[in-house]
Amino acid sequence: MNVFIVYAHPSEDSFTRRVRDRFIAGLESAGHRHTVSDLYRMNFRTDMSEEEYLREACYRLEAPVPEDVRLEQEKINRSDGIVFIYPVFWSDVPAKLKGWFDRVWTYGFAYGLQKDGRRSMKQLEKGLVICSAGNTMDYFRETGILKSMERTMLDDRLYDRVKTKELVILEATSRENSSREENWDSRLDRVFSLAVKFFE
Ligand SMILES: Cc1cc2nc3c(=O)[nH]c(=O)nc-3n(C[C@H](O)[C@H](O)[C@H](O)COP(=O)(O)O)c2cc1C
Repeated sequence: MNVFIVYAHPSEDSFTRRVRDRFIAGLESAGHRHTVSDLYRMNFRTDMSEEEYLREACYRLEAPVPEDVRLEQEKINRSDGIVFIYPVFWSDVPAKLKGWFDRVWTYGFAYGLQKDGRRSMKQLEKGLVICSAGNTMDYFRETGILKSMERTMLDDRLYDRVKTKELVILEATSRENSSREENWDSRLDRVFSLAVKFFE
């Protein structure tokens, strides 16, 4: 499979960076090809321009899609699967990734034109969301935040744009957590296995 990885973390000195590298190692060991968009490294612009807003809000649908957005859309349409790797920030994706959705999921690409509902985005076979988080799974379940993240990422952002999808949280991975280092290898082994098995 061709797998497109959308990665968003501001620092290479992070657990999440290791997740990215281990995931790529898993893909390679299973013989998959991959492309990475490292949004902070690319300095991907995440604020919408007024022109983009007017296009997305159907004031001026004839406005062109910006080149950096078009390149991301091409990467999607050349892929069979998509993976998002990021740290949970305030119970959601970092603003960098939120802005990627705002700009890349354009009208006519990711959602339909009112008259015929057609979209030019390819329907992807598989989508995987892997996020690292300071809190525990128990906390995410008890507070309803897990459900909220699944609804937002899987049911809304990925929706029917991806056929098979899953969200995985690597819990209790923030630096102040003393057990972070103890759990490190098992978390990364899980990431490697996911890369091998999910895209079979
Ligand atoms: C601005 C900010 C907001 C965060 N918000 C959350 C949060 O809402 N829930 C949570 O579990 N962890 C939260 N965290 C913790 C990160 O998810 C955690 O530090 C990261 O996943 C793992 O560490 P890494 O940066 O070494 O990859 C937040 C961290 C930062 C910097």
